[in-house]
Amino acid sequence: MAIRLNIANHTANNSMPDLPDLNAVIKVLVPISDPKLGKSLVELDLIRDVTIKPSGVVSFTLLTDAEPAARQTLIDRCKATIKTLPGVTDVWVKVSETAAPVPPKPSGASTVSIEGVKHIIAISSGKGGVGKTSVAVNVAVALAEAGAKVGILDADIYGPNVPVMLGMDAFRDIKVTRNANGLDIVEPAFNHGVKMISMAFLIDKDQPVTWRGPMLNSAIRQFLYQANWGELDYLIVDMPPGTGDAQLTLTQSVPLVGAIIVTTPQTVSLLDARKGLRMFQQMGVPVLGIVENMSYFIPPDMPDKQYDIFGSGGGAKTAKELDLPLLGCVPLEISLREGGDRGIPIVLGHPESASAVALRSIAQSIADKVAELA
Ligand SMILES: Nc1ncnc2c1ncn2[C@@H]1O[C@H](COP(=O)(O)OP(=O)(O)OP(=O)(O)O)[C@@H](O)[C@H]1O
Ligand SMILES: [Mg+2]
Repeated sequence: MAIRLNIANHTANNSMPDLPDLNAVIKVLVPISDPKLGKSLVELDLIRDVTIKPSGVVSFTLLTDAEPAARQTLIDRCKATIKTLPGVTDVWVKVSETAAPVPPKPSGASTVSIEGVKHIIAISSGKGGVGKTSVAVNVAVALAEAGAKVGILDADIYGPNVPVMLGMDAFRDIKVTRNANGLDIVEPAFNHGVKMISMAFLIDKDQPVTWRGPMLNSAIRQFLYQANWGELDYLIVDMPPGTGDAQLTLTQSVPLVGAIIVTTPQTVSLLDARKGLRMFQQMGVPVLGIVENMSYFIPPDMPDKQYDIFGSGGGAKTAKELDLPLLGCVPLEISLREGGDRGIPIVLGHPESASAVALRSIAQSIADKVAELA
């Protein structure tokens, strides 16, 4: 699906609780089907250019080649449905019979690369909260520090934490420009040497996210293809936990050089890591290796001590069993969590700490693996 998310308008609406947001407009249209194909207009990607004006007027383009009578019925249904949303004063529908330019879409197993972006790497985990984002952000910054051109795509719609961990404000005005092909292009934010685009750009921080698969897919694809990434050596994608829609969209859209699986030494986390591995293998994406996070706790007042809070050796054992390299083990350190909360990744804030040393070494191992595969 390639609805042109009108990001600027959508963000502006955050301060106007009386208006529906883009999410609500799309969601309410999901049950309406194309008369010929019998599938949802939203899933078929036939709703484009949705805008919500401060006056409450919602407008969008409907792609359809239906007969005039069927077309009018479709328009009337869409209008009536959108008008049920609070705050909507009118609905304007523009009909287009020819498809507008859309971002490349996956067809079967084929993927489409992003111009200028050399290597795309997914940071994934089966289980939530194991430290994917912390690893993704620190690896990105470490690679940038080493002189690489790096971008990070925060694809976690349910917990887009990259902006905070990179010290960026996701709720600033997002710059969107239109390119020569008529596509809206998002300008990434930039801090600590890393370009960043986040799902947080699209969502209201106080609202629960209730997006359906197609909407999530659309947003991820637009952020991949309709962003001014420029020349990048590495685009790191921070995934939501699990093996859901986001993982499928990513693996089916762009050629990934590989995925990294983050785990903790805990058995449940390791079991989930195996599931993640299997999914990437089924999608034909190489897994570059495993990162074990929270390997042991280093008390700040006794830096020579180590406590195995989540057990020990699990990452190495799993890596061996699955015949994957263990890219490194990151200790649990209070300064790593503090750095994340303050927006100063530990590789910059405490470059001499054990976690920073481990994360830099992991970044180096990833660069080496990518170089082997490229
Ligand atoms: N090695 C570590 N030492 C100390 N704190 C850590 C470490 N790794 C992660 N944390 C903290 O644990 C919390 C969860 O980490 P993070 O957000 O990176 O996990 P995640 O896998 O991305 O979570 P989610 O599945 O919700 O996206 C954060 O507060 C982070 O600062
Ligand atoms: Mg995360």
